[in-house]
Amino acid sequence: MPSKQPLIIDGKSISVKVKESLVPTIQKLKKQGVTPGLAVILVGDDSASQSYVRMKEKAFEAMELFSETFRLPEMTTQPELEQLIDELNREDRFHGILVQLPVPENLNELKIILKIDPGKDADGIHPVNLGRMVLGVEAPLPCTPHGILMLLKYSGIDPKGKHAVIIGRSNIVGKPIANLLWQKRALGNATVTLCHSRTKNLPALCQQADILISAIGQPHLIDRNYVKDGAVVIDVGINRVDDPAARRGYRLVGDVNYMDVIDKVAAITPVPGGVGPMTIAMLISNTVYLAEKSIQT
Ligand code: GUN
Repeated sequence: MPSKQPLIIDGKSISVKVKESLVPTIQKLKKQGVTPGLAVILVGDDSASQSYVRMKEKAFEAMELFSETFRLPEMTTQPELEQLIDELNREDRFHGILVQLPVPENLNELKIILKIDPGKDADGIHPVNLGRMVLGVEAPLPCTPHGILMLLKYSGIDPKGKHAVIIGRSNIVGKPIANLLWQKRALGNATVTLCHSRTKNLPALCQQADILISAIGQPHLIDRNYVKDGAVVIDVGINRVDDPAARRGYRLVGDVNYMDVIDKVAAITPVPGGVGPMTIAMLISNTVYLAEKSIQT
């Protein structure tokens, strides 16, 4: 059992530091007549997606950046959506474009992402940018994985030589964070195990983790049986569970049973207030980066 108090990794305050670090670049761009701008496309009325998009809008407003949300009906067709992306690709006021995922089932997610100009890919999920990331070439990085690296950096946790175990193989979290953590670069050089729904004996693998990252979307799956003494635990899950006592009728919980593991860990992210705010900070960072790139010759 770790003798020291665990470090509660405060994503809210670290996200503020990341956003503050962008201010000089934003001011420089504005002096050149460029306000970094983001187009957000939201298809359908999934309430979690709506709330994420509202948070993104508010964050851009608070940073005095430009954003516009295009809210499309659930029944939007693939050609209609692709036509909108084509138009946004051509509009100079948007340096970044984001399609909130998941999209309704009748739409083809890959074809949508492929439509986005890689030079405007605020989410860093276009295959060109993911390919650049894998090759270790500069690119906008996927926001949540990039945010996790920043949480580690600002908490003084260097993954080098550590065993990172990741649960979940999604395109926007599991696959890219696994890749970033083993790369030969700052905040990389870890040894990585990627677990998923078919992994056998998940608790035993997780117990070997110096850094355990859960991104599976199963409320409180990870209890103390999955956690090694002194581990760093990063909880990417944001799960809605029914709670009649809560104002909205639900509350948000992570993949990790925080109270069950807290006395074992060296550091842990809370939910909410851990990874979530970082995803938005890195979206701002990517938009500013893309705006800078857009005026470089
Ligand atoms: N849905 C959940 N997280 C994300 C994200 O980071 N980007 C997009 N586009 N959709 C999401």
